[in-house]
This record gives sequence, C-alpha cells and structure tokens, in this order.
Amino acid sequence: MRTALIRALSLATVVGVSGHAVVETPTPRKNGPVQQERCGSALTAQLKKDIASPIEDAMKKADEDYNCNAYLCRGYQLEDNLERVQVVKAGDVLDFHIDLIAGHHPGYANVSVVDLATNQVIGEPLRYWADWPDSTSGPPRNDIDFNITIPDTLSSACDVAGKCAIQWYWWASKNKQTYESCIDFYLE
Ligand SMILES: *[C@@H]1O[C@H](CO)[C@@H](O)[C@H](O)[C@H]1NC(C)=O
Ligand SMILES: *[C@@H]1O[C@H](CO)[C@@H](O)[C@H](O)[C@H]1NC(C)=O
Repeated sequence: MRTALIRALSLATVVGVSGHAVVETPTPRKNGPVQQERCGSALTAQLKKDIASPIEDAMKKADEDYNCNAYLCRGYQLEDNLERVQVVKAGDVLDFHIDLIAGHHPGYANVSVVDLATNQVIGEPLRYWADWPDSTSGPPRNDIDFNITIPDTLSSACDVAGKCAIQWYWWASKNKQTYESCIDFYLE
C-alpha cells in the first residue's frame, strides 16, 4: 500500500533527462524533521518531492541552512529513521529491489558498507556493476533484484546503530548524476 503510493508519487514527478532510481527493499532511509533542520528545508523539500531524483538536483536548492552532506545517504538522517534500522549477523543475506524508474543514462553502481562518521567505504564493495543499469541479465534482472551478504569482517566497526550503513550508489556518468539509498544496520 505504502510502497505503491511512493511508487506512484515518484512516477508522477519524473522530469527532464535525468535517470531515476531508488532502493525500495530493504526500506531505506527517508526524509524527516531532523534532515530538514540539518540540510535546510529547501533542499529537503526537493529530495522529498522525488525520492528517486539525482542528488545534484537537490544541491541546486542548497541555501544558508544547508549544513549536512547530501552526498552521504542523500542527507537523510539516522534520527528520522530509527524504526528502520536493521539488526543483522555476519553471513545474513539481504534481498534488494531497486525501483528503476528511468535508466537511460548508464554509469556504474555499487553497494558498500559506509562508515557514517568518516563517509569512507569499509572493505570491498559488497556488489559492483561496471555498467548499470544492465538489463541484459535475467529475468529476474540481477541489476535491480539481487542480494548482499553481511561480511564477517565488520565486528566492532558496526556494532551500534549509526556507525554504519549499507549504501547503494549509482553514478550516471554521462549526465553526471548521483543516486543513493542507505540502510542503517548494526551487528547484534
Ligand atoms: C562505490 O560507492 C561509493 C559510495 O558508496 C563511491 O564513492 C565509490 O566511488 C564507488 N566505488 C566504485 C569502485 O565504484
Ligand atoms: C542470492 O543471489 C544469488 C544470485 O546472485 C542466488 O544464487 C542465491 O540463492 C541468493 N541467496 C539467497 C539466500 O537468496
């Protein structure tokens, strides 16, 4: 129900020549009041208007109230997403589904564990696509339906909510646009 609504909203707002995509499963971080406070209401409103839009579009709205990093998890904040934090164990497999709304501007994509304090990727990407979207595979298409395995090398690096997120990242190289979704998690 809710997913269908979000999909309808994002379809309704597809504009221009942008690509458009967002993680749908697992439920990623979304906007909220804490983001509005840290990123400013203009930029937050733009991200909210189209949850699958490129971050660069939102950056055009950044004003004097912009005090976050929109290129880390789209500026979405943990505090607005506490009920979505996943509790996992090493070896757990998480199924992903990407809502690919417009993909006519290829580039590359990856899924990585990101240290949220430093915005550095921890270890190797969990998945990497040199060409994304790549619809030559499937069905099911393994660019938008895939799984990741929680690595066994994270241990204390990700033992508390807010230390780490799984970040899906798509760089549409031709039109220089960044798409991101983050899933907060910690190891139990
Ligand atoms: C993987 O994704 C990160 C963002 O999470 C990005 O900064 C990095 O450039 C990507 N690396 C590769 C090799 O694609
Ligand atoms: C994960 O995806 C692979 C295909 O990439 C599949 O073979 C495997 O069964 C999946 N694992 C789980 C636990 O669903």
